[in-house]
Amino acid sequence: MQRLTQITDVQTYRQALAGSVGFVPTMGALHEGHASLVRQSVNDNSHTLVSIFVNPTQFDQSTDLAAYPNTLETDLNTLEMLGVDAVFLPDFNSMYPDDYAYQLSEDRLSRKYCGAHRPGHFDGVLSVVMKLFNITQPDKAYFGEKDHQQLTLIKGLVEAFFVPVEVVSCPIVREPDGLAMSSRNLRLSAAQRKLAPMLYQVLSQATSLTAKHQRLEKLGFDVDYLEVMGNRLLAAASLGEIRLIDNVPYQPGGGA
Ligand code: PAJ
Repeated sequence: MQRLTQITDVQTYRQALAGSVGFVPTMGALHEGHASLVRQSVNDNSHTLVSIFVNPTQFDQSTDLAAYPNTLETDLNTLEMLGVDAVFLPDFNSMYPDDYAYQLSEDRLSRKYCGAHRPGHFDGVLSVVMKLFNITQPDKAYFGEKDHQQLTLIKGLVEAFFVPVEVVSCPIVREPDGLAMSSRNLRLSAAQRKLAPMLYQVLSQATSLTAKHQRLEKLGFDVDYLEVMGNRLLAAASLGEIRLIDNVPYQPGGGA
């Protein structure tokens, strides 16, 4: 597996590839959720490229950025085992030669749900994903349903700017107790970790949104939002400092 840190090295590497290229952007601290995206890409394409970059522009809280887990050596081993051809590990200055003077933003969906609670978050995501697409020029790029709003915004970005990349959505991977896998789960205390699966449990129950909200608050979650977007019910709720998000299929009127 190639380790590429310079953008020019990725460009040279990419130009020499024949056959289809799949791309999986990540922020590292890899778990089975990431691995499922990588497996799908390895299965679909002649070559798979993964990026690991903890993108500062999408963090609205500097404490969250500073506490973001880093397991680089384990991540690289995992990617090698999964059959990844190359991993891109850029630094801030090479990704942002303009120091983020140029930004991409979306002004409808990105203002709602997670965007309403995390100002600038999706501008950072859209900007970095566009940069990564331009650098790696993949045929297909893989994103998880876990971040349903992010996935929808990236599909919209590709349509709006005629980006020649096929966005592939991958199902949510959960722990045996139902908790959606997330790099941030590593930061939960033992007690918080025990409580965390209740987010999924409560979302899945056939009760009203108000009842779900009350139940979660009573359990000790600080609920940011609990709202329907299309045919999904989305939620974000914190346990202490740790913000969890999840979503489940939702039929209007069904069980509510
Ligand atoms: P990160 O949180 O590392 O997630 C990378 C990809 O893995 C995203 O597409 C995310 O939806 C997917 N993923 C995470 N947990 C998952 C789970 N439990 N099941 C299925 N897929 C899961 O999302 C980001 O990084 C960043 O915003 C990024 C797109 C890399 C831009 O910086």
